[in-house]
Amino acid sequence: MRRKIIAGNWKMYKDMSAASAFAQSFQGVKNLPVDIEVIIAAQSPLLPGLQKEFAGSRVKLAVQNIHWEKEGAFTGELSIALAQAIGASFTLVGHSERRQFFGETKETAAKRAVAAAAAGLAPIFCIGESRQEREAQQTESVLRAQCAPLFALAPTPIPNFIVAYEPVWAIGTGLTATTAQAQEAQAFVRELFQQNWGSAAASLLPILYGGSVKPDNAPQLMACADVDGVLVGGASLDPAGFLAIAAAAK
Ligand code: PGA
Repeated sequence: MRRKIIAGNWKMYKDMSAASAFAQSFQGVKNLPVDIEVIIAAQSPLLPGLQKEFAGSRVKLAVQNIHWEKEGAFTGELSIALAQAIGASFTLVGHSERRQFFGETKETAAKRAVAAAAAGLAPIFCIGESRQEREAQQTESVLRAQCAPLFALAPTPIPNFIVAYEPVWAIGTGLTATTAQAQEAQAFVRELFQQNWGSAAASLLPILYGGSVKPDNAPQLMACADVDGVLVGGASLDPAGFLAIAAAAK
């Protein structure tokens, strides 16, 4: 049985009081079935407050990026140790917005993921093709290329690793992948991990779908055999909506 994971990506939204108000309105999370993991990836300064708000709750926290070096002259980056010190147990890695706007490459994404995992900060490794790549039938080759540096650095399984398949054309656009598109891509991703990390690790690997997930499409997406949860951007900002999505993970 694979873990079921519902992760919210708040991106660069919410201040301290909005984060606290969210936590207050998110109490219903305790009524979800016990095997559903709920993660919120927030801007780092929000984590200490969220950690207090969610003390004793199942909600786990994530940062949105970390650097692979322990420390150094890397202005604007966040160390793994500090991320953990402020309450993160997960980190997003290689989100398409990092790749698109901030020069993240497949090589740096792999370095971040491997370093985070080695330090016990579970990476949520984001991959996905652009619209042009899908239209050119390159989805599989893009996914394979995005994972190649990871397998070069980590030829054997990394514990607590999570993948998020997020087609770039579906992020923030309202254009959700169809269940067939999500299932096909995610089965392919699992096959890639199976070829590199073996059947046992691949069959336990949680693969999330992300890209315009909403309360009304979450149930169908999560009914797909290789969709083990979702990574939710816009719809995770609203506590009632995010709770409805989490409840669809049953
Ligand atoms: P979206 O974002 O749900 O707003 O499309 C998903 C993501 O960026 O992870």
